[in-house]
This record gives sequence, structure tokens and C-alpha cells, in this order.
Amino acid sequence: MTMIPRAAFVAAALAMSASAAQAGDIEAGASAFQSQCQNCHNVIDSEGEVLAGRPNVRTGPNLYGVVGRQAGTEDFRYGGSLVEAGEAGLVWDTENMVPYLLDPNTFLRDTLDNRRARSQMSFRVRDDATAENIIAFLAQFGAVEDAEEEAAADS
Ligand code: HEC
Repeated sequence: MTMIPRAAFVAAALAMSASAAQAGDIEAGASAFQSQCQNCHNVIDSEGEVLAGRPNVRTGPNLYGVVGRQAGTEDFRYGGSLVEAGEAGLVWDTENMVPYLLDPNTFLRDTLDNRRARSQMSFRVRDDATAENIIAFLAQFGAVEDAEEEAAADS
């Protein structure tokens, strides 16, 4: 797949970035994304290029650049709880996305300290390792542009 050189480049860029996702196995994450996430999500960049999943999937928001993004800010009809969490300062990173993926409702209840909070994502990942792998896979998308911007800013 065309993703491999891109992934190698991003892996190098991520290695230099302290805030980036570590731990996860990108290849395992790619196959877990395929079997568990892409029925509802895809990854499409700002030019409309489909980087993961299928083009016309809109059950869940586009996950391009999701690691590092404020929660609930894509062009998507989110549930109120997720938008509220984003407005309260929730920015997705490896640490918070793992518990979100394991149990979105409980995560939003804890984050908002409101037991009525609800997620509209009715899916759970079964274990931490799978969640970490998927996050490592997703963290590739968006980082290329960021790395290029940084390089441009430095020159
Ligand atoms: C059955 C459909 C479905 C599946 C399967 C699913 N999601 Fe979701 N996902 C959603 C919906 C719907 C939302 C919006 C949730 C809300 O508004 O509360 C969402 C939201 C999210 C968000 C928050 C995005 C944002 O912009 O804040 C992330 C991250 C996410 N999903 C990741 C995943 C990953 C990774 C997988 C695979 C392990 C997955 N989802 C599987 C439907 C799904």
C-alpha cells in the first residue's frame, strides 16, 4: 500500500515529538482499524484524499488528525456530551483515547462528572493493547502536515 513510505516518514517525525503516541504497533492498528472502526469512520485529509477506510462512510466523524484535536470539532452531528467535553478542554491524546475507546459512556461520565452524559459511539474496543495500536495508526494522519509546517517555520 502507498501508506508504507508515508508511515516510515511519520514514524521518524513522531520519534522526535515528545507528545506523540508511542507504544502502539501501527500495523496491528491498521488491521484493527479495518475490522473495528471503518464501518463507521474513515480518515480523509483536507484535499479529500481517503487515507483509511472508505469514502462515503459518515456514521462517525472523520478521524484525520484526531490525535491532538479538540474533541467534537469535525463537521459532524455529535452528541452534546462529546461537544461539551471538547469545550471543557478535552483534546485527544493516547492517554485519554484509550479509556474512551474501551468505554465511551463511562469516559464521558467521568470527564464531565455527570452520570447522565452519553456517547453516541456504540462501540467498545476490548483491550488496552488494541486501543493503543489503533491510536498509533491514527496518529500518523495529520502528523505529516504538522512536520512539514514545523520544517517550514524553521527555515
Ligand atoms: C458503530 C459505529 C462506530 C464504530 C464501530 C466506531 N465509532 Fe467512533 N464514533 C462513532 C460516533 C457516532 C461518534 C460520535 C460520538 C458522539 O457524538 O458522542 C464517534 C466518535 C469517535 C471519536 C471522537 C472523535 C471526535 O471528533 O471527537 C473517536 C476518537 C472515535 N470515534 C474513534 C473510533 C475508533 C478508533 C474506532 C474503532 C476502534 C471507532 N471509533 C469505532 C461511531 C463509531
